[in-house]
Amino acid sequence: MTTPTAFSSVSALVRRETSMVYDEGKEYLVEARLTPLAAARGLGLEEYVARLASDPTERRKVVDALTINETSWFRDHTPYQAFADVMVPALVERRQITRRLRVWSAACSSGQEAYSVAMLLDQHLPAGWSHEIVATDISTAMLERVRAGRYSQVEVNRGLPATSLVRYFTRAGREWEIAERLRQRVTVRHLNLAAPFAGLGTFDVIWLRNVLIYFDATTKSDILRRMLPMLADDGYLLLGSAETTLDLPADLAAAWRREQIGRVPAYRRAGALSLTSTGA
Ligand SMILES: C[S@@+](CC[C@H](N)C(=O)[O-])C[C@H]1O[C@@H](n2cnc3c(N)ncnc32)[C@H](O)[C@@H]1O
Repeated sequence: MTTPTAFSSVSALVRRETSMVYDEGKEYLVEARLTPLAAARGLGLEEYVARLASDPTERRKVVDALTINETSWFRDHTPYQAFADVMVPALVERRQITRRLRVWSAACSSGQEAYSVAMLLDQHLPAGWSHEIVATDISTAMLERVRAGRYSQVEVNRGLPATSLVRYFTRAGREWEIAERLRQRVTVRHLNLAAPFAGLGTFDVIWLRNVLIYFDATTKSDILRRMLPMLADDGYLLLGSAETTLDLPADLAAAWRREQIGRVPAYRRAGALSLTSTGA
């Protein structure tokens, strides 16, 4: 059983390293995820937690174990429909000179979001255009999975249309491996959203879905403030279906203009929309 001291020490560690809030009531989760790590070191849970302060390798494993990596292909469907039907055509019209799009999957988990976007760009970008999808996450274990581009049968059953499975995957033993040409489009980088976004360039579309819900109001505002200059003037930000800008401080809420696109709200930089390209 997790003692209150062990729980608060783990919850402080996760908060420090990821900004994710692990409130009381999540003891069961900490226990379920950390007991196997402790057992692998031949330790009881409490003893293991006590050693974390002096063991950066185990601390990284704890962060990996406690980030919530729930994801699926074309999650919620409507954002992907809006992306393919409205955002990509609008951007194609505006980027005739550079003929290049950049997309950021900003809490990519095991890569289903980034590769779903890659499939749509493969289908909807005109010939001769180039694109890059930058996939970032705080979990190094998840980033390894994105790089590997391999998924179990259970994972491909979650939201991936059969036609896309046939078109973009090959069997690799008991797993399915994503096509090399899609993998080449995805740049994988470690990034803590709560820390500065150095050297990423700017993006035409940012997918920041199902991660803000784990942060407190201050962290969420800070991320959305620093996200503004990361988006092209005429770009789009997509949040998860339970996430919104309505609860932000007034100046920041006003800086993100909400625009309904089909059945999904997208967020755009308020102020003049210009024809500038991202140029990154
Ligand atoms: C629930 S998944 C969402 C995956 C995907 N965006 C989706 O909507 O399906 C949340 C992801 O956020 C990542 N995460 C948590 N805290 C983070 C942080 N501070 N910086 C970057 N990523 C973080 C987790 O590792 C996890 O992979």
